[in-house]
Amino acid sequence: MNKKEFIGINKDEYVPIMKDESITLLVKLCIDNKPKRILEIGTYIGYSASVMLSACDAELVTLEKNAENAKLAKENLSQFGERASVVYIDAGDYIARQDIGKFDLIFLDGAKGQYINYLPYLKNLLNDNGLLVADNVYFHGLVKQEGVIKHKLRTIVVNLRKFLDAIKNDVEFDTVIYDIGDGLSVSRKKIKS
Ligand SMILES: C[S@@+](CC[C@H](N)C(=O)[O-])C[C@H]1O[C@@H](n2cnc3c(N)ncnc32)[C@H](O)[C@@H]1O
Repeated sequence: MNKKEFIGINKDEYVPIMKDESITLLVKLCIDNKPKRILEIGTYIGYSASVMLSACDAELVTLEKNAENAKLAKENLSQFGERASVVYIDAGDYIARQDIGKFDLIFLDGAKGQYINYLPYLKNLLNDNGLLVADNVYFHGLVKQEGVIKHKLRTIVVNLRKFLDAIKNDVEFDTVIYDIGDGLSVSRKKIKS
């Protein structure tokens, strides 16, 4: 489905969906790795979910805490039938549950300041050889920028720096950070020997 056909996209407004070059990499990751189960954090109206569902045969669970977005996403993803589940919930509550099984690909695109807090849960939810993909890790370039960060953005930037340090230094992950879009990290959970 073309981006412009999505219910809820107003061409005159800024829409917080992934940049095209990051979408291209996400599609390639789905095609190359053929995940069977995908978890997405941050649905918005279902654009990136639709792209992933079109690129592979996976079942996908996507989490959205805004009721109106979740409703629009359900409409936009209805074409995928039971392969797509939109869950209207705060992601932090969902990932702490013990009964949701494991995933082959987790795409992190919700609240940027929460990535570091979610990381231990997401690591447990990933199958060996699974991928943790996170968007906006450079957050408009501010994460790499030296000097003073505006007060209202400081927590997000500091937490994203902690997240990048954590995934780069975790011996159980192989991580590549791509300087595309708004920064995209891809971490593969190593197979335990
Ligand atoms: C950048 S948008 C997602 C864009 C979408 N992945 C795409 O590219 O099509 C981020 C979304 O995450 C949602 N969100 C933010 N914090 C959340 C949370 N704690 N739990 C669930 N969803 C959250 C927001 O409401 C927003 O719709």
